[in-house]
Amino acid sequence: MKLSFLSVFLTSALALPSPRSTRNDIPPFFLLAGDSTTAVQSSGGGGWGDGFINTTLHQGAKGINYGHNGATTVSFRSGGDWATVLSKVEEYKSDYRAFVTIQFGHNDQKASANISIAEYTSNLEQFAEDVKNAGGTSILVTPLSRRNYDNSTGTPLVIENLADQRAATIEAAKNTDTSYIDLNKASTDYLNSIGPADAYTYNLASDDYTHLNDEGSIVFGGMVASLIDQDFAELKSDGYVTVKAKLLTALEKGEYYWP
Ligand SMILES: *[C@@H]1O[C@H](CO)[C@@H](O)[C@H](O)[C@H]1NC(C)=O
Ligand SMILES: *[C@@H]1O[C@H](CO)[C@@H](O)[C@H](O)[C@H]1NC(C)=O
Ligand SMILES: *[C@@H]1O[C@H](CO)[C@@H](O)[C@H](O)[C@H]1NC(C)=O
Repeated sequence: MKLSFLSVFLTSALALPSPRSTRNDIPPFFLLAGDSTTAVQSSGGGGWGDGFINTTLHQGAKGINYGHNGATTVSFRSGGDWATVLSKVEEYKSDYRAFVTIQFGHNDQKASANISIAEYTSNLEQFAEDVKNAGGTSILVTPLSRRNYDNSTGTPLVIENLADQRAATIEAAKNTDTSYIDLNKASTDYLNSIGPADAYTYNLASDDYTHLNDEGSIVFGGMVASLIDQDFAELKSDGYVTVKAKLLTALEKGEYYWP
């Protein structure tokens, strides 16, 4: 008797709408900082950002893509993009939980940029500190893999030419006690699993193995969302950041997905 009363009581208590009182119960606002592998699809670039914003944010969660084609950790600051991102953290932090994703490396690694790994690491650390000081939460993102394969072992395997930037991004996160998601590893594993023919269907142009078309943006945007949900489980349970079940299953199984 007592037990069934308790379960009836609990059931009705749980059915009441929960008060939106804690800080985590306000929707997230994602400000995406990065290079062309985050940026909006255009003739010169295209990354995961718009697929993430368009298809994984719900219940009032929002995002703005500040990915800038050709950007490095130096140019993103010197060119004024970073000041814009920080001003948006200030603008949105009272009505939203302000998150800043930070993903660089594709251009920082070019010899012409003349940015050492030590500088790249400390630039990422400074970004993370700035977001903290502005009242936001940063998520460092290891760089999206390119879709170039080495076939010399008999099994096509992605050429891991961003390994140093991946390691440096993780180090920057640890040094500043910042969250990070390992997009480089997740995208490398997925691309190895689906193989080159399917991977190339996500190319922005047939010979562009770096940038993503709309479909690729949705697939890798979903991958970013699922990685964020692993670190911030409440964003998933509150329904703010969710990935379509069919895509999530494909990502988990390493199976090809076309939106
Ligand atoms: C590269 O950067 C280093 C350190 O800042 C500087 O001493 C050097 O002159 C730069 N090289 C070029 C080619 O700009
Ligand atoms: C590896 O194989 C893929 C698929 O056939 C091909 O597109 C690619 O150019 C090959 N990679 C190299 C480095 O030859
Ligand atoms: C995202 O949505 C915008 C606005 O509807 C659209 O123009 C764009 O093509 C979409 N991009 C992706 C990758 O879904």
